[in-house]
Amino acid sequence: MHLTYLGHSCFLVETGNARILIDPFLTGNPAAAIKAEGVSCDAILVSHGHEDHIGDALSIAKRNDAVIVANYELAEYFTAKGARTHGMNPGGAHVFPFGKVKLTLAHHSSSVEAGLNAVYLGTPCGILLQAGGKTLYHAGDTALFLDMQLIGRANLDAALLPIGDNYTMGPEDALVALDFLKPRLAVPMHYNTWPLIAQDGAAFARKASESGHTVFPLKPGEKMEI
Ligand code: NI
Ligand code: MN
Repeated sequence: MHLTYLGHSCFLVETGNARILIDPFLTGNPAAAIKAEGVSCDAILVSHGHEDHIGDALSIAKRNDAVIVANYELAEYFTAKGARTHGMNPGGAHVFPFGKVKLTLAHHSSSVEAGLNAVYLGTPCGILLQAGGKTLYHAGDTALFLDMQLIGRANLDAALLPIGDNYTMGPEDALVALDFLKPRLAVPMHYNTWPLIAQDGAAFARKASESGHTVFPLKPGEKMEI
């Protein structure tokens, strides 16, 4: 499984027979590695409805005829906008041609649009993806929560964890998350996109290694084998 960090919480997963995009936010993302027009994929997994996770989902889905997998209400929102979708909810798993997806808990919120027009669309989720013989956990936006211990029972090859603080867990809580999840390796996300979520990815990786964890802070555009 190849993992490419596209910036913020957006990753492209390539398994050899499928390209799976997670939380596409490229247009308007100061840290985006590529333009949305340059992405080709078979499926798009989205964790929740905030703009910095679904920003380019609709346009990329339509251009590629890719299915959007999301919580039920968010999936229905994309269906109403003309996309091919598959709705799920936390605890539920489904086997797709590209792999198996299970949505997990996440402690956050999930609205689309903002201000007076905000519409709440379902529960925010994390994503467990089994594909190409590997198990990947994308935590979405979340606080630290004790039930991460249950998610860790899936024998994670990799965990993608927010460390930006303010909207999600920060580095200190993410270190505890590593103890709960016990992934073979982890990649920090949802930081340094804007000054409000500035963090030191290398310092996080150093502290994680002191407690026996392997963390690779990827730069936008960097790719690694899992
Ligand atoms: Ni969010
Ligand atoms: Mn976010």
